[in-house]
Amino acid sequence: MDKSASIDAIASLYTRSLDVLTSLRSGGAGEPPPARSAPRFSITRTAELAGRTQAAIRDAEKDGRLPTVERTASGRRIGYSLAEINQMRAVFATRPWRDARDPVSVIAVQNFKGGVGKSTVSTHLAQYLAIKGYRVCLIDCDSQGSSTTMFGYVPDLDIAEDDTLYPFIRNAEMRSLAYAVRETHWDGLYLVPANLKLYSAEYELAARVARAEPALLNRLSEGIASIAEHFDVIILDPPPALGTISLSVMRAANALLVPIPPTVVDFTSTTSFLAMLYETMGALQERGLPVDLRWMRLLATRADEQKSMQRELLGLMRTLFGDLLLRTVLKDSAEIDNASARLMTVYELEQPVTSRETYQRCLTYLNGVNAEVETQIRLTWPSHAERLRGEGVI
Ligand SMILES: Nc1ncnc2c1ncn2[C@@H]1O[C@H](COP(=O)(O)OP(=O)(O)OP(=O)(O)O)[C@@H](O)[C@H]1O
Ligand SMILES: [Mg+2]
Repeated sequence: MDKSASIDAIASLYTRSLDVLTSLRSGGAGEPPPARSAPRFSITRTAELAGRTQAAIRDAEKDGRLPTVERTASGRRIGYSLAEINQMRAVFATRPWRDARDPVSVIAVQNFKGGVGKSTVSTHLAQYLAIKGYRVCLIDCDSQGSSTTMFGYVPDLDIAEDDTLYPFIRNAEMRSLAYAVRETHWDGLYLVPANLKLYSAEYELAARVARAEPALLNRLSEGIASIAEHFDVIILDPPPALGTISLSVMRAANALLVPIPPTVVDFTSTTSFLAMLYETMGALQERGLPVDLRWMRLLATRADEQKSMQRELLGLMRTLFGDLLLRTVLKDSAEIDNASARLMTVYELEQPVTSRETYQRCLTYLNGVNAEVETQIRLTWPSHAERLRGEGVI
């Protein structure tokens, strides 16, 4: 055998790759990842997000209902953090939280095809909703830990097996998933991280489910139920395969968002995904484990409209799927690539990596997609559906 393919050589490649990741996140191996700074918002944006005028915010600061914000040496406000904006929402009664009678939204961003943008969509949706003031938990269900990485962690260095879903999924006697829910540098956004160990859960679960423990496919759902009261939206980022974790995700979700790049290969595998979804939902139902979805939407991702074939396929998808396909297309953008190379999302970039124009365009697609999903979520909440009608959204 070629020596480069020996176990030792592969182990050494792995170690060297980890070193690269460590240097990307900065801070040495064995040290905690460097703290990420929370994004800040201008007074104009803050007023928009808090749902009150700038004057109302200043008045509340003056009369002590809100703390005064930090200023630079020249007296300029340095901008508001999300935590400060959430405090304003509490004072002004403009929090968008669901009512106790509204069901928590559990959204699976799923497609068994790899690389279609599941983790990109999950993380950007989670952060968008957090900016809007919702209480969000992102559960990384994929042993690759891509979503975990987007919060600045190197999963194999910074995350231990006990920090993930793994202990909860395998131990039927565990009652709460709270141990794995960690704060992020985004106020109101929590993360259940993943690392490679979750891959063991896949095998272990498959063997036990096949042996006689199909109810183990409910473990994720039970874990979610144990933390649900604290959240408005829970987002699940599953692995790109139909394994036991993906089945658990389907069982736990009450909404499905399917990213599909408009290429023939991705379209073909999405068609298989729909067939497998249909069959699997039937099989789960027969085992007494029904999948109960309140809504499902498809989303065109990584689209390059410069390519005529992709334009054609997008048109076809629109005709075929109609309203099930979100109106906004998440186009391919260098800003998304550049942000992920910095282990962050576009929402976190303090300034454009390419040009202001590319950055703004990318934010327009992202906000468009996420706003459509937000409406879907709110429609499932009776208290919000009434308001949406009032706002003329529906
Ligand atoms: N709209 C986009 N523009 C540019 N790059 C993108 C876009 N969407 C995703 N990417 C890039 O494509 C790669 C794959 O995306 P992502 O990890 O989100 O896919 P995934 O479906 O979660 O993959 P996996 O199946 O491995 O979990 C990443 O490097 C990501 O930065
Ligand atoms: Mg992924």
